[in-house]
Amino acid sequence: MIVCANFKANKTRQETHAYMAVVESFVSANDISDTVIVFPPFTALGHEQRNILIGAQNGYPVRNGAFTGEIALEQLEEFGIGTILIGHSERRHVLGESQKFIAEKFRFFAEKGFAIVYCVGEPLEVREEGNDALMAYIEKQFEGIDLEYADLVIAYEPVWAIGTGLTPSLRDIELIHGALRAKTSAPLLYGGSVKVDNAREIMGLENVDGVLVGSAALSANDFCEMIAQAAELGASGR
Ligand code: 13P
Repeated sequence: MIVCANFKANKTRQETHAYMAVVESFVSANDISDTVIVFPPFTALGHEQRNILIGAQNGYPVRNGAFTGEIALEQLEEFGIGTILIGHSERRHVLGESQKFIAEKFRFFAEKGFAIVYCVGEPLEVREEGNDALMAYIEKQFEGIDLEYADLVIAYEPVWAIGTGLTPSLRDIELIHGALRAKTSAPLLYGGSVKVDNAREIMGLENVDGVLVGSAALSANDFCEMIAQAAELGASGR
């Protein structure tokens, strides 16, 4: 299983260090072999990577240059970052990133050998049109994306489920992940209102290889609990 925490624009550097200390000791004390990735804000990327991967929530697709307010390859490399989130719904819908730009980022960071967690997901109006419309929408989010890329993880995050407390039914998650599985052999994460109370049943579904958690992962103890659930599922043959 792959268990990820996306902090978004939450936590200071100091808070991130304290959080990481809790999760790192949990992972070593419990001999966790599942992959744990934390995506803190840029200011906290300098935390040394011990038994947890630290990834960037974003990156500009150049080595360096005149791109005010952006962080590029050189700055990520300085902190040993080799994992990046691309295509998150907030980058698409709040920050207005186009599929063309997202695909450019994907190509750049893939060429540099980054592990890429690539996010897809539909807004509510598309979901309401039914499964064919939903898959057609997601298909467009794969334009320019190499689904054969070796270090790829796909995260399915319905826009309407992010930060709302709403989730698709377990059957719907399984259905969509099944359709995604037909397209790629990359591990498939589910994200959108995952919390301690529902993580186990979601991770137990067919073709769900882990979770990408936002708000509920801001508590180190809750995140550790979800890591424990992933490990238990692994131990029971899932
Ligand atoms: P929430 O878990 O807060 O719904 O956020 C999900 C998400 O966007 C993770 O990337």
